[in-house]
Order: sequence, then structure tokens, then C-alpha cells
Amino acid sequence: MKDWDAMLAPYKQAVDELKIKLKGIREQYQLSSKHTPIEFVTGRVKPVSSILEKAKRKNIPVDKLEEEMQDLAGVRVMCQFVGDIDTVVELIHARTDFEIVEERDYIKHKKKSGYRSYHIVLRYPVQMIEGGEKRILVELQIRTLAMNFWATIEHSLQYKYSGKIPEKIEERLQRAAEAAFRLDEEMSQIRGEVQEAQKIISRKQQSLRKN
Ligand code: GTP
Ligand code: MG
Repeated sequence: MKDWDAMLAPYKQAVDELKIKLKGIREQYQLSSKHTPIEFVTGRVKPVSSILEKAKRKNIPVDKLEEEMQDLAGVRVMCQFVGDIDTVVELIHARTDFEIVEERDYIKHKKKSGYRSYHIVLRYPVQMIEGGEKRILVELQIRTLAMNFWATIEHSLQYKYSGKIPEKIEERLQRAAEAAFRLDEEMSQIRGEVQEAQKIISRKQQSLRKN
């Protein structure tokens, strides 16, 4: 019998710490009245039942879980606009409190399912009372609200159909992913228009003050 609580404790610690740090970034943007690239943050430690199911499916021995299952700790950052994802990725690159192990850009290279997201695998140090520093893997997923909406619905359908979604529904999901992609594009364009309008307004106000 494995002591899961003890094994997963540093993962819970890492998820909690990263959530606080990412929310801290959000608060700094809000304080400076700038558009925040982070809308909200979620995180979870993979439930033991899902760990066992995935280990079985991917043939991962239980004693290799910590190195071979990259998403025992998962943190998700949701953004309003696709451009915000680049900003968040830059912020992550600039940090010195963890290392980047791997990056997967499923936005440039969307998955066959229609899935889009930017993934970064981190090696994150947690301080334990026994054994000192432990460096564990954390999977960070960065996506827009539209990408998240799609992925959440698709995930629950995967669950409902035990991973074998009927072809007709798979096709509809791909079309829905296209619609989510267009929504992201539209929103980015509208954002550009709003920023243009704001510039014009502030120029007009400046010239009114001068006259
Ligand atoms: P996993 O065995 O799922 O870890 O796949 P992988 O090792 O090839 O990594 P990948 O980057 O593809 O996926 C990691 C995580 O991304 C998954 O655990 C999901 O949270 C998410 N993900 C990847 N593909 C899909 C998808 O088609 N639909 C949804 N809803 N989520 C996905
Ligand atoms: Mg994975």
C-alpha cells in the first residue's frame, strides 16, 4: 500500500504556491491599472483514481510516477485574449523561482481533437521539513476563456463516453473548436478597435484642454 497523501503533499504545496504567485501577478497589473493578461487561475493535484488509471493506460510503473507523469500537479491560467497568452509565457520565462523543462504549443499546432492551449512543464522546488528541497514537475496550461470552455466540455464528453466519443460528435466538437478559434480572433480584433477608440478619445481630450 502506497502512502499517497505523503507522496502527493509536495505536489499540493507546489500547486498552492503557484496559484498564489500567479494571482500576485494579476494583482500587480490591477494595481497599475493595466489590462491584466491573467483572468483567473485554477489548480489541482491529480486524484489517486486518475493517477492509477493513467499509469495503467500509459504503462508507467508506480515507482516512476514522479518523473513520468508530468501532470500530478496541474495549474491552469485563463486569459481573455490569445495575445495575453504570449505575455504570460514571457512572464513565466523571466522568472527565477523554477525551471522550464518542456513547452508544448498546441495553439500554433492544435491537436487533431481541436484542442488548443499552451503547455509548460516546470521543475518547481518545494521546501520539505524532511529531506529539504524537493524539485517536482508541474504542468502549467495557459489558454483563453474560449479554449477553456471548449476543453472543459470536450473533457466531460470524453468522460461520458469513456474516451470513445462517437465520430459524429467528434466532428461537431472539431467544428465547435473552429468556432472557438474564430471567437478568439474576433475578440482580439474588437480589442484592437477599442484601444484605437481610446487613443482617439484621449487625443481629443488633450486638444480640448489646449484650446
Ligand atoms: P497526457 O497523457 O494527457 O498527459 O498527454 P501527453 O503526455 O501527450 O501530454 P499533452 O500535452 O498532450 O496533454 C496534457 C494535458 O493536456 C491533458 O492531461 C489534458 O489536460 C490536456 N489535453 C491534451 N489534449 C486534450 C484534448 O484533446 N482535450 C482536452 N479536453 N484536453 C486535452
Ligand atoms: Mg502529459
